[in-house]
Amino acid sequence: MHPLLRRLLAKGVPRSAPGRRTGRSGVTAGQLAAYWAGIFYQHRIPDAQDSSRILVAHALGAKNFISIRGRAARSPVSADQLLLVEKMAQERLKRVPVQYIIGEWDFLDMTLEMRPPVLIPRPETEELVGLVAADCEELRHSTEAAILEVGCGSGAVSLALLRRIPQVRVIAIDKSESAISLTRDNAHRLRLHHRIHILQHDILSDPIERLVALGPVSAVVSNPPYIFSEDMSQLEPEILRYEDPSALDGGLDGMDVMKGILRLAPLLLQPRGDVFLEGEPRHPEMVTKWLEEQSEGRLHLVQTVKDFCGKPRFIHLRRCG
Ligand SMILES: C[S@@+](CC[C@H](N)C(=O)[O-])C[C@H]1O[C@@H](n2cnc3c(N)ncnc32)[C@H](O)[C@@H]1O
Repeated sequence: MHPLLRRLLAKGVPRSAPGRRTGRSGVTAGQLAAYWAGIFYQHRIPDAQDSSRILVAHALGAKNFISIRGRAARSPVSADQLLLVEKMAQERLKRVPVQYIIGEWDFLDMTLEMRPPVLIPRPETEELVGLVAADCEELRHSTEAAILEVGCGSGAVSLALLRRIPQVRVIAIDKSESAISLTRDNAHRLRLHHRIHILQHDILSDPIERLVALGPVSAVVSNPPYIFSEDMSQLEPEILRYEDPSALDGGLDGMDVMKGILRLAPLLLQPRGDVFLEGEPRHPEMVTKWLEEQSEGRLHLVQTVKDFCGKPRFIHLRRCG
């Protein structure tokens, strides 16, 4: 236990009997959050204040720190809550991402379960969903339409699309067993499991016939692993230590999985079907060049789109004819 917390406890925290939550600590949520923010700051933990507030809110059963208002904000937290925050804070000091510590995270309008080492969805990927949903507006009325997501991870993209396009079916594939299992759990959690087909499948090595058999799709969507291998070592400890490297490392040019998708998409898409990819800022130009070099020319560029930071991020392609 951290010495400062021991001092706080020594100030008069009555320990509750196991299983009882009656003991009050004398420490308010605000004081506790400020205390751990200070410790995180001293230990150079990124986003010290946010991390501390998220952990305190979680221990108090609140959605976020701002929502702890009024009496709840002024009254002391229980001794059990104090100890729970300490346990979680010790994890954070080991650089475990808060999303894995609290076991859930919001993506658009959904709260998803999070489990290491499945990739924690990033904010820019919310824009990928918006792009696909806007373009697939006409799929709203088609009971036949299907979208294939390659590399579903936690299920964030697939499930967000299912919520936005009511009639559509999604085929969600991932090579990782942990990702498949988490997507399945999140689909059940959100009661979307009837409209999603979840399949463990490696797009680079498993037979394409398995996917062809599921029928032509209207769109292929992917946020593939796209970090250049040489850049992997620059990543923060939160990512390097706890997230699956094969969810991130895209090979020498960050395009290993992307190229696999580009080769197979024309065989899986219906005529004039779309491909939406997320990449890093060098990729829109690299993908355009790569497509020009391919003799078949079965996909053409519709547009590249910048993310909310103004960086080229998304690539929208269409099957020719
Ligand atoms: C960047 S993560 C994206 C996860 C999720 N779609 C999201 O946006 O949060 C890439 C995902 O692709 C999966 N993946 C990597 N290589 C793959 C392959 N060859 N075939 C299928 N999935 C793959 C990883 O397991 C990982 O879940």
